[in-house]
Amino acid sequence: MIKAVIFDLDGVITETSIQHFQAWKAMANMVGVEIDTTFNESLKGVSREKSLKAILKHGGILGKYSEEEMEKLNFCKNEYYKQLISQFTSANVFEGAVELFEYLKVRGIKIAIGSTSRNAPTLIKAMALEQYIDYIVNPDDVKNGKPAPDIFLKAADVLGVRPSDCIGVEDAIAGIKAIKAAGMYAIGIGDGEVLEEADIVYKSIAEIDFSIII
Ligand code: G6P
Ligand code: MG
Repeated sequence: MIKAVIFDLDGVITETSIQHFQAWKAMANMVGVEIDTTFNESLKGVSREKSLKAILKHGGILGKYSEEEMEKLNFCKNEYYKQLISQFTSANVFEGAVELFEYLKVRGIKIAIGSTSRNAPTLIKAMALEQYIDYIVNPDDVKNGKPAPDIFLKAADVLGVRPSDCIGVEDAIAGIKAIKAAGMYAIGIGDGEVLEEADIVYKSIAEIDFSIII
């Protein structure tokens, strides 16, 4: 019996990849690296630290900066990103998300956010979704990021439900892998060919038909 649904945030509940891209592009320019939207696709669902390393590698300068310098670069990127998302409101929530949360709430099903982003609590608050969310995983509280199952297992653990009684919803390949590794049912949001490891794939959150599962 499904008792909890764990949602990724970026690309599932709202669109932030444009803001992440803008902030990474500005940071990459500072170190003389060019990135485009195709490259940005590979950063979806990837942690801040790993994204920076991927960008430096893309520019052939991985190893040029010390850990301390990389921390500063990440700080700059995040400051700019925070500025870009400071205008987010409930208007940024994808169509169908609130209706889905209400559907789950009425049925007593718990809702968690399992995002790699440390900005998730800020966005949830800005988009006025706090009332629906029982728990937001802090990625710093788990050992391994996606595709490891840790983030999803942490949510199940805190909510007090078995992983097999959870559904995970994700738009990134690493996220689908994490859900499956956690032993949960995986709903993919996006392209079925890309997210082939998901149990079922929908084009958007608005299309999810929970009545077939719950
Ligand atoms: C999500 C996004 C990634 C982002 C990561 C960390 O997974 O898809 O693009 O790098 O979160 O986000 P943060 O807000 O903590 O830098
Ligand atoms: Mg995502």
